[in-house]
Amino acid sequence: MSGHIIGICGPTITVDLTELKLYDMVLVGEGELTGEVVRLEEDRAIVQVYEDTRGLAVGEPARGLGVPLTVRLGPGLLGSIFDGLQRPLEPLREAQGPFISGGATVSALETGAKWDFTPLKKAGEKIEAGAPLGFVEEKGFQHTIHAMEGGKLARLAKGEITLDEPLGSLDKDCELHPLHDWPVRKPRPYRRKLSPNRPLVTGQRIVDFLYPLARGGTAIFPGGFGTGKTILEQTIAKFAEIDIVVYVGCGERGNEMAELLEEFASLRDPWTDKPLMDRTIVVANTSNMPVAAREASIYTAVTMAEYYRDMGHNVLFLADSLSRWAEALREISTSLEEMPGEEGYPTYLASRLASFMERAGAVETLGGEEGSLTMILSVSPPGGDFTEPVTQACLRTAGAFLMLDTALAHRRHFPAINWFQSYSLYERAMARHFAEEVDPKWVDMRKECRKMLQREESLREVAEIVGVEGLQDADRLLMKAAERVRQEFLSQNAYTEDAFSPPDKTLAKIAEIVEFFHAAEKRLKEGELLDEILKGKNARESSSEQAEGKKQSSRDEEDKQDETEEKPQ
Ligand SMILES: Nc1ncnc2c1ncn2[C@@H]1O[C@H](COP(=O)(O)OP(=O)(O)OP(=O)(O)O)[C@@H](O)[C@H]1O
Ligand SMILES: [Mg+2]
Repeated sequence: MSGHIIGICGPTITVDLTELKLYDMVLVGEGELTGEVVRLEEDRAIVQVYEDTRGLAVGEPARGLGVPLTVRLGPGLLGSIFDGLQRPLEPLREAQGPFISGGATVSALETGAKWDFTPLKKAGEKIEAGAPLGFVEEKGFQHTIHAMEGGKLARLAKGEITLDEPLGSLDKDCELHPLHDWPVRKPRPYRRKLSPNRPLVTGQRIVDFLYPLARGGTAIFPGGFGTGKTILEQTIAKFAEIDIVVYVGCGERGNEMAELLEEFASLRDPWTDKPLMDRTIVVANTSNMPVAAREASIYTAVTMAEYYRDMGHNVLFLADSLSRWAEALREISTSLEEMPGEEGYPTYLASRLASFMERAGAVETLGGEEGSLTMILSVSPPGGDFTEPVTQACLRTAGAFLMLDTALAHRRHFPAINWFQSYSLYERAMARHFAEEVDPKWVDMRKECRKMLQREESLREVAEIVGVEGLQDADRLLMKAAERVRQEFLSQNAYTEDAFSPPDKTLAKIAEIVEFFHAAEKRLKEGELLDEILKGKNARESSSEQAEGKKQSSRDEEDKQDETEEKPQ
């Protein structure tokens, strides 16, 4: 289907092609820039181009591909870095240098690579669409290859395979391939959705303990400028107990992405001790890359995430930030002269977001396995105003809302998650799970911790008037204990070893503070003076610090001897 460009307005191109369908892919111009049909008229089509359109002229050719925007799925995606259209950045850099020109085509997967295939079916067996044919090992993961069509199996490979050769065939002369393309805007099918009932351990105390996330759930982190969204997302990408991470840098700074990639290349997964990059796929559409591709990038990424979910893996999808995606959507909508809704966003913003977030979930796959796709999305409301449309639209759908507080960030309390205004719908189910798996004390400790923080909040107002010294001893003790909860338990520095706290350590830490509080309360009732009690604690702390210091200095000695050992961050 060929035609010509008849109009250009930034990335919005009008072509004289008529037999196209909505969201079909079109290559425009001499450079064959990729675009998608976003509006159809009787004699023309409007195409949203995902690359830089500078230099494009009216009259240049346009070619409809007759298929929607797809991603290529098969072994070899793990450890890769893609742009918003699934072009691998590393091979592109080798081919074109650091600045990618428009229309670049490099296959997302290295088709010549050899894989060792273990079949799970035999010739002659009847299989259904979605049934597992066999698997290859990809960076330590079992990468299952499923049949795209059902029928009677005539032939199936065993041993060495390459991605450009058929894997086998069905009776009706239908070839089976190790690779397939999937339209990014179409959710991949599954047998049924399951309720998300297993926790996603993040290693962040405030998240796991107070606002737990569930595997297959959705969470949003809205926060104003500099409240720690990026650091929190990246810390979770590093430490979460999950099989595979798909990280989308959506419209954020390029240097942050470069730092992430550098760090991931050297770090190891704390749960499996494998290199972190081996379980990660990065989709980079940073602020210096074409805006329009940003709209597509989250779909590209989520389709890859669903692909691994379909193998029965637990996948974590992280996007930073969804606001930049919504802004790209607004730009496209404006250039199409659509009727604007609130703050200029298109009227379909909320439904688009909801249908996107629907792609998360714990599922029974077509192959009969259980997999999950968890979404954690950061939102950057302008001016930290949570009533703006993107935050509000996310709020309606997300299972957990972890509000990042500018005041806490100013006080350098990180992660700056506000412990009063956040919520998690998974709270009860997950607390029960932790109580069974970690310690039955988990539920009571949560209650105690919350009670302390709430009592502190109500006392704070009184303290502001009369001063802390004017409070009764019992209240002063409470304030002291709550301060410890905030400073020692809820705050967690992402740059130290404390960045990751497994659930048992999390519980031990809060239990120590709660027990100190109860013991001190008892002594206070018995008539001891508060200052004496606190002095005793301080004395104990300093002596234990001294002991720790001694231990540290002897450790330092050992470290000096072993100079090759890496320093903690
Ligand atoms: N957990 C943490 N531990 C220590 N420091 C932190 C932590 N989280 C954030 N910070 C500090 O806050 C700064 C800003 O964090 P970050 O870049 O993640 O904010 P952001 O919300 O992504 O900002 P922006 O809105 O500009 O994207 C970091 O450079 C770091 O110094
Ligand atoms: Mg950021």
